[in-house]
Amino acid sequence: MQINENIGEVRVSGTIRLAQRARDLAAQGKDVIDLTEGQPHYNTPRHITEAAYQGALAGQTGYTAVAGKPHLRNLIANHINHQNGTDYRIENIVVGCGGKQLIFNALMVSLERGDEVIIPAPYWVSYPEIVKIAHGLPVVVQCLPASGFKITANQLNAAITGKTRWLILNSPGNPTGAVYTKSELEEIATVLRQHPQVSVLSDDIYEVIVYEGAEFTSLTKVAPDLIPRILTISGLSKSYAMTGWRLGYCAGEANFIKQMVKLQGQSTTNASTLSQVGAIAAFEGSQEFLSEWLNDYTGARDLVCKKLSQSDALEVHQPEGAFYLFVGCKKLFGYGDIVNDQDVCNYLLEKALVAVIPGSEFGCQGYFRLCFAKPVEMLDKATDNLIQSVNDLCKRQ
Ligand SMILES: Cc1ncc(COP(=O)(O)O)c(C=O)c1O
Repeated sequence: MQINENIGEVRVSGTIRLAQRARDLAAQGKDVIDLTEGQPHYNTPRHITEAAYQGALAGQTGYTAVAGKPHLRNLIANHINHQNGTDYRIENIVVGCGGKQLIFNALMVSLERGDEVIIPAPYWVSYPEIVKIAHGLPVVVQCLPASGFKITANQLNAAITGKTRWLILNSPGNPTGAVYTKSELEEIATVLRQHPQVSVLSDDIYEVIVYEGAEFTSLTKVAPDLIPRILTISGLSKSYAMTGWRLGYCAGEANFIKQMVKLQGQSTTNASTLSQVGAIAAFEGSQEFLSEWLNDYTGARDLVCKKLSQSDALEVHQPEGAFYLFVGCKKLFGYGDIVNDQDVCNYLLEKALVAVIPGSEFGCQGYFRLCFAKPVEMLDKATDNLIQSVNDLCKRQ
């Protein structure tokens, strides 16, 4: 069967590929610690699962409106308005099968062939691939550790052309945990005001996972005049440990949302009805567990940072949000057969039996990413193994 050129060029997600390798090794009886996939190790809170279960028993098993249940969309609008200073109503909200689908839909309904999308690197693996699927051109801007892996106003200004349609901003960010400050967003807004052809896709999926000292700030709050050009994406996957429920949402200008709903109506239709019932319970129920989880993530972050800092060969950048550590490993190049971060990750998988993802998958060679949303004992063992293997490698020459 024919496969078109466009999809032929799209890469399989590196995260999915490495997670599969780790599973394959585990199936061979190896005691692999998998720190690849970005998902909390918690179960979804019981009251959410219970609500979906009761919903199923009560017959909430049919279609809903394509854009989602009105009650859920109202709850989402209230949540976003409260947090981001917007004034959204139900027509500004669409619910979909995860944040990923909504990013896909947004780019599919907006990009013309050859339109450019600015993606600050390191980036979440799917952004450039979705842009390519939508016939756009990813314009990757390398962001340096010195600027906290964040795009600066000058970099943005230099990257914008007449063909630029979107800037993708992800704060807290995957894979670095970078959180944009109010003043950084103000500077970005100043640049955007000079370029009315550029919209912003603000991926806020890690909005609740922010550590002490940092603060989540949305561009909408900093620059209310730009609200008509900002599309907010978020979801319940990360914050409520609901990755498998496939429930995300998007907020933006009503006509744009209408087009996204039209596309969704011709593909998946509504997000799973039972997932929507669960999401209603998530928004309406107690939020107390979120601060307990954040305490756990803080402990996990401090542990992995401290342990991996023991090696001079690794460069640890403490994340301000999300649950990933992006570790510099360039100093390992030249040892044994290692020439790049892919080799480092292969070595660590074989020797330390710890699966992590090369930075090059995120558009940034010389790093690896690990997810620390895991039990402490697992992280303790993984970091011991990692340090031991790195030390063994460095002793070899
Ligand atoms: C930055 C970012 N955005 C969006 C998503 C999509 O999440 P989901 O489709 O599960 O809502 C992810 C998942 O890893 C992510 O890391």
